[in-house]
Formats: sequence, structure tokens, C-alpha cells
Amino acid sequence: MVLESEHAESLLQKGFSRRQLGRIASLLTAGAALPFYNEFAMAQDAQRRMGMGMGRRLDPDTVRINQNENPMGPSKEGLEAIAKIAPMGWRYSPGGEQGELTAAIAEVEGVSTNNISLYAGSSDPLHRVSCAFTSPGHSWTMGDPGYGGGAPAFIGSGLKRVPLRGDYAHDGAAMIKADPDAGVYYICNPNNPTGTVTPRKEIEYILANKQKDAVVLVDEAYIHFSDNAQPCSDLVKAGKDIIVLRTFSKIYGMAGLRMGFAMARPDLLAKLRPYGAGFLPVTALACAAASMKVKTLVAERRALNKQIRQDTFDFLEKKGVQYIPSETNFFMMEVKRPAGDFAQAMAAQKVIVGRTWQTWPTKSRITVGSADDMAKFKAAFEKVWA
Ligand SMILES: Cc1ncc(COP(=O)(O)O)c(C=O)c1O
Repeated sequence: MVLESEHAESLLQKGFSRRQLGRIASLLTAGAALPFYNEFAMAQDAQRRMGMGMGRRLDPDTVRINQNENPMGPSKEGLEAIAKIAPMGWRYSPGGEQGELTAAIAEVEGVSTNNISLYAGSSDPLHRVSCAFTSPGHSWTMGDPGYGGGAPAFIGSGLKRVPLRGDYAHDGAAMIKADPDAGVYYICNPNNPTGTVTPRKEIEYILANKQKDAVVLVDEAYIHFSDNAQPCSDLVKAGKDIIVLRTFSKIYGMAGLRMGFAMARPDLLAKLRPYGAGFLPVTALACAAASMKVKTLVAERRALNKQIRQDTFDFLEKKGVQYIPSETNFFMMEVKRPAGDFAQAMAAQKVIVGRTWQTWPTKSRITVGSADDMAKFKAAFEKVWA
């Protein structure tokens, strides 16, 4: 990607060097050789480090509960919409699919269509926010352990990691204290990797105490799985300095199809626009719009995930294994050894578990798979734990 000169100039004024501009361009180009920060890339990297080979075709019997994917997959209605639109895929926009999805989101979220920008997943706007609102002098301030942080660090912006509170919520006051002049306060709610919820008052505290030009970025990738996390669409509607990210990769089971969106005031969304082309596949647009119209989908999927998660927690409790009570489709468990060793041992049993976080080297993140996946997880765990 080549940055336009006017745009490059404004980045130089923010304190980036010419070398860092190159990094910004390469981050947004998503070149395969570059550190491209998202869950898939990081899971692949973890697999490579365990000697499992990137992109290698895995045995079909292998259980993959390492990337917080949703085995419920795209909805039936979504798949029918894909089949219907696919023959028209020669057109950029056969029938105004972007408008249809935007209108469906606006209705469900209670915001205006001007408050919505669609993207092919939420990694794209996540990277754009780091380019648009952070700089060497205005950090990306986030919880620890938390999701990402690689992109702002890669482009040369400041990065502050602030320990979560004892109840695993983000600590608004500590985040402001860590950097009163941050460009972005990033709250993942529920948080990846803990699966825990941050109460609204922490977000409101940051909004009330941050600098004028800073934004609060609330990543709601997993919000639909949670019983207690409060979505922030109303704060967008109220015109606050907030950007909310959503993805169809999780509850809607569309990780490989790619669709997501950002919700914010139009002037904030405009700041994300220069960083990338943003073409969207019509198949994913149609699938997402059709899935959103299925009114029972979210509640049904949330309940099924909760049931499988609880069954796994019951199993761990019987074994005396500590875990963090998550409200999402993943959780962290204490494996009492370097988590990489645990992952290797599980992989030998054909179960690929998730990544580990530097702050908690003996905790492993496990995705809640299908009931069958979790039965295989339990069987493999019995062997490895023994
Ligand atoms: C917290 C969080 N945010 C954003 C993303 C990005 O997801 P995607 O690019 O598939 O929409 C992920 C992916 O796992 C995630 O865990």
C-alpha cells in the first residue's frame, strides 16, 4: 500500500519517522511475510513454533480448538443467501448488498447507518484504529493479558499493558494513570484471552478522564456469547469518543468468509478510511445480512455454547483443574507446566489447543468446540494430565 502524500505528511507531524511510515503501509497491505496480527496468524505462528508446520494439511481427525472459531458455522439462511448471490459474483455489487447489511445492523443496534462502516472482519479496522489514533507520543493502552497490541508496537507507537483487576475486568483508572495521554484505550469486552466482562462504569470512567482527541476502542468480538457484557452501541448513538468493533467470525461462524464492522460517529469513521481499500466480498455480505435477520440465532447459539462450556467446566472441576469462568467460546485453564509443553502433549493426542500469554506462562487458552470436540479434548486431557 502506498500512503498518499497529504496523509503521509500528517503521520510525520504526529511524530512517525519515514521508516515507520513504511511499516504502517506494510501493516495495512497484510503481506504474508510481515507480522500480520490477528488470531489466525498468531495461532499459525504458535503451531509453527511447536513444529507443526504453517498451513500444513492437518489430519481430518485432529480437533482444532485453538482459534476461537465457531463450529456451528454459517447459518442455514446465510448459506442459502451465498448460493443465491454467488452466480452474480461477477458484479462488484449485484444488488446493493452493502446497503442491505448496513441497514440490518442499524436496526438491530439502534444506531444510524452513518454510524456504521463495514469491513472484511474486524482485524482490518483494529489495525486502522492503531494507525489513525496512536503515534510515538500517544500510546495504545490495553489490558494485560489482552488481545493484540502487536500492530501499534510494530508501527512504532507507544504500547502500555495494564494488568486486569483481580476479577479480570479492565481497570479504567489504572489505564488512565498508565498513560493519561494515550491515543487509544483498548477494551476487549468480553476480553480475549480471559473471556471475562468489563462493567460499563470502567468504560465511562475512561471516556470522562481521557484527553480530548483520544478514543476508547471497545472490541465486542465475543459480546454475543456473554450473558452480562453490556454492548456500547448506545454510547455510539450518544456521540461519545468511542469506536465499537464487531465481527461475524464468532457467533455467526463466518471466520473464513470475512465480515465485520465498526460503529462510531461519522467523523471518527472518516479517520479510518484512508488506511486501505476495503473491498467486500458479496458472498459474505449476503450471508451476514441473512444471518442477522434470523432473530433466534444469537440466543440459540449462546445457549448451546454455554451448555458445552459448562459441561467442560464441570469436568475440569472434578479433576481439580483451575480455570477462569469465561462468558465466551473460549477459556483459560491452569496447566501447571509451561503451557507450550501442555500444547505439545495435547497435539500428540490430536487436539490442538490455543496460545499462551507471557503474563501467565502456565495457562492455556482453550476454544469451546462442538460437543464432540470437547469429548475428544477431555479424553486427551485425561492422558496428558495423568
Ligand atoms: C478480540 C478479537 N478481536 C478481533 C478479532 C478479529 O477477528 P476477525 O478479523 O476474524 O473479524 C479477533 C479474532 O479472533 C479477536 O479475538
